[in-house]
Amino acid sequence: MNNFVFQNPTKLIFGKGTIARLAREIPGDKTVMVTYGGGSVKKNGIYDQVTAALKNHRYIEFWGIEPNPSVETLRQAVALGKEHHVDYLLAVGGGSVLDGTKLISVAIPYSGDAWELVLNAELLGDALPVASVMTMPATGSEMNAGAVISNKTTQEKFAFNYKHPQFAILDPETTYSIPAFHIACGLADTFVHVMEQYMTTPDQSWLTDRWAEGILLNVVEIAPKIAENKHDYHLMSEYMLSATLALNGLISMGVTQDWVTHMIGHELTAIHGITHGQSLAIVLPATMTVLQAQKRGKILQYGERVWGITTGTPTERVLAAIDCTEQFFRSLNLATHLNEVQIGEETIAEVERRFNERKVALGEACNVNGAIARAILEACL
Ligand code: NZQ
Ligand code: ZN
Repeated sequence: MNNFVFQNPTKLIFGKGTIARLAREIPGDKTVMVTYGGGSVKKNGIYDQVTAALKNHRYIEFWGIEPNPSVETLRQAVALGKEHHVDYLLAVGGGSVLDGTKLISVAIPYSGDAWELVLNAELLGDALPVASVMTMPATGSEMNAGAVISNKTTQEKFAFNYKHPQFAILDPETTYSIPAFHIACGLADTFVHVMEQYMTTPDQSWLTDRWAEGILLNVVEIAPKIAENKHDYHLMSEYMLSATLALNGLISMGVTQDWVTHMIGHELTAIHGITHGQSLAIVLPATMTVLQAQKRGKILQYGERVWGITTGTPTERVLAAIDCTEQFFRSLNLATHLNEVQIGEETIAEVERRFNERKVALGEACNVNGAIARAILEACL
C-alpha cells in the first residue's frame, strides 16, 4: 500500500426533506450568492424548497451556469458577487453548477482573471466558503476539491483542485426529474470514476479494491432497475451515494490512479461539447483495449469479481471483461464509438497534437502521450 493522506471535511446531509436544513447550516450573518443552472430547479420544486429555507438569509441569485461550465459565464457571476460583497456561495444543481461555483469562490477574492486560476494552481489563494444542494449524482464534486472548467473561446477544458465544500445536501427525491440520458451519463461517470482509481495494477490495497468493486457492482445492479423506475427512492439513494463515494477520496487510498479516459474525454467535450459521461463510455473500453498488457492482472481480477468471468484463457478473459464493460454502457443506451457521435480523424489528430504540445505523460505508468491517445481514439472509431 502506498503512503497517503486522507482528509475530507465535507459534511454530508442525506435524505428526504433535507433541503430545509439550509436554514441552519449557512450562518445567518452571511451574504449568500445562490448559483443555478438552466432552470430545471424551477420545474421540479427544488427552487421553492431552497427559497423557503433561506427566507431569513440575505442572498442574491445567479442563473445560467451551463453544462461544462464556461469561464465566460463564470466571469459574470464573479462580477456580480464582487458588486454585492457576497461572502458565502451555495450551488444548487449538478456538477457543472457546483464546479463553476468553486471557481467563483476563488475568483471573487482574486484581482486577476478567473481563467488564470484554472491554469496556474500557484495563484489559488483566499476562497469563499462553498456548499451545495446536489441535484445530479455523477461527478462527486459535492464531496471533493475538484472542479472542471471550460473555455469556449479557446475550446479548452481543464480541472483544478483546491478546497472541499463545507457541506452537501443530497436528497434523492431531487433526482426524479433528471432526464434518462443524463441519468445514463451520471451512472457511466460514476462507473468510470471508480475505474480510473481501480483499473491499474493489483495488490496495492486489497481493501480499497473491494470498496471499488462494491461500487461497480452496485452501479451495475441498479442501472437497469433505475431505467424501469427512476421514482424509486431506494434505487435513487443507492445511485446518489454511489456517485459521491466514487470520487470523494475513499477508493484512492493507498493506490495509484489512471485518469487517461477522463483526460481524453475532456478533449472530446472541449472540441465537440459532447456530454461528459457519454465521452467516457466511448473512451474507456478503448483505453482498456490499448493498455491491456499493462493492466492485465487488474482486468482479470475485475472480470472475475464484477462480471463473474472465470473460464477461458487469460487473454479470452481480458477481452470478455472489456466486452462486458462496453455492453454495460450500451445497456445504458450510450454510444461506445466515435462514429456514432460523428467524430473522426480530424479530432483524433487534434487531440494528439494537444497532448504532444502539453508533453503529457498520463496514467498509472505515466506512459500515455499523444501517440497512445491516438491509438486509444483509433480503437474506438
Ligand atoms: O442546468 P439545469 O437546468 O439544472 O439542467 C441540468 C443540465 O442540463 C440537468 N439537471 C441537473 N439536475 C437535474 C437536472 N435536470 C432535471 N432534474 C434534476 N434534478 O442535467 C444537465 C447536466 O447537468 P451537469 O451539472 O452538467 O451534469 P454533471 O453533474 O454530470 O456535471 C458535469 C460536469 O462536471 C465535470 C464534467 O467535466 C462536466 O463539466 N466533472 C466534475 C468532476 C469533479 N468536480 O470532481 C469530476 C468529473 O469527472 C467531471 O469531469
Ligand atoms: Zn467524470
